[in-house]
Amino acid sequence: MAKYVIQGGQKLSGRVRISGAKNSALKLLTASLMGNDLSIIRGVPRIKDIFTMAQVLEVLGAQVEFTGHNDLLVNPTFLNNYVAPYELVSRMRASILVMGPLLAKLGIARVAMPGGCNIGSRQIELHLKGLSMMGASIEQGHGYIEARAKGRLKGTVIPLDFPSVGATENLLMAACLAEGETVIENAAREPEVGDLAHFLGKMGAQIEGIGTSTLLIQGVENLHGAEHRVIPDRIEAGTFMIAAATTGGNITLENVVSRFSELVIGKLRDMGVDVLEDGSRLHVSRNEPLEAVDISTLPYPGFPTDLQALMMVLLSLAEGVSIVTENVFDNRFIFVNELNRMGARIRVEGHHAMVYGGATLSGAPVKATDLRAGAALVVAGLVAEGETEVHDIEHIERGYENLDQKLRDLGADIEKVSGESQF
Ligand code: EPU
Repeated sequence: MAKYVIQGGQKLSGRVRISGAKNSALKLLTASLMGNDLSIIRGVPRIKDIFTMAQVLEVLGAQVEFTGHNDLLVNPTFLNNYVAPYELVSRMRASILVMGPLLAKLGIARVAMPGGCNIGSRQIELHLKGLSMMGASIEQGHGYIEARAKGRLKGTVIPLDFPSVGATENLLMAACLAEGETVIENAAREPEVGDLAHFLGKMGAQIEGIGTSTLLIQGVENLHGAEHRVIPDRIEAGTFMIAAATTGGNITLENVVSRFSELVIGKLRDMGVDVLEDGSRLHVSRNEPLEAVDISTLPYPGFPTDLQALMMVLLSLAEGVSIVTENVFDNRFIFVNELNRMGARIRVEGHHAMVYGGATLSGAPVKATDLRAGAALVVAGLVAEGETEVHDIEHIERGYENLDQKLRDLGADIEKVSGESQF
């Protein structure tokens, strides 16, 4: 297990280019299975989750190849298997997103049950309920879910109890090849869902209401391959904005869509951070002390749960007390113990956390419990006095492309060291 070793105290400065969105690219890969020929997806981050998804696609019979540094070619012509095995699904829950495409294209999908993970129980009943409303029969047993359709799936009205990102995406993909019209009500509005819908449109799908909570899909008989560039990663952008603010630095982010981060930018400004929007760039700096703000995570356009842990680091340094409420996942505060070991003063009560500001963080050995919590500990290390070791960085490498290199380029003192984890 590798670790990052960080010497705190450097203010970040310079430019950083934001990569393509992980949570979009993963779904574009699974959607490309539904085409009758090649798709080219540009701007795909070279991260572990993408490599795992490429393996899932290969197991299913597709050919996947990086053609340029960040361009991925998917050839689904030889799709000949419908089983996503436990070994891969247990490594990455997003593998469940092959279910809609396989069912729609082959009439059958068998996917290992993903189970919970470090941030919560993460059910998938909304995916399954929607697919069965479209006519699929679903069986669960021996750790697998098998969905079958007699002929094509049938379009219908699917009201989602909760705007789940994954359920919206699975159902959207399945609906593209279904017979007739499907309406997904209370659909997730995350930009990554929109990106998937735009890609499907290029493949020949007919989708209306993109970016709204009602998606209307007219099924077609076939989809073809398409070429598409992944949208910039708004969570990576948020990570660097928060890192700049935490260290009192001054950086320029390139390749961003600022409207995807409106609420985050607003909260940072409320805290006293300067954020200047400049086309596809954002200039972020901080010279003033930070003020406390309250945060409540919600589905998009609400405050993203994926930035909750990172914001807690920034709020730890602010004047006053902030209340952070996590509404999306049921176990996304477990990293708090690690941050408190670095000197933060955060008290968790159910799905609320009281962050007592004015903390002086000090370097310590800590453990990344999941991807975003790991990034938060790295950012804490940048501002902590002395040396921080962040262990179990495999979690971080699942979702951030060259995080350590990008931070070094901004002046941070961070090294990746391979070796045994002490935890
Ligand atoms: N949920 C259910 N039943 C369902 C589906 C979801 O109860 O059938 C619950 C989940 O248990 C969870 C909540 O609804 O508590 C949100 O789940 P959602 O389906 O919206 O999220 P997801 O598709 O599993 C994606 C991202 C997450 C991100 C969330 C919320 C991918 C691969 N993952 O997960 O990203 O936090 O949306 O925005 O797109 C990350 O990148 O670190 C990450 C965890």
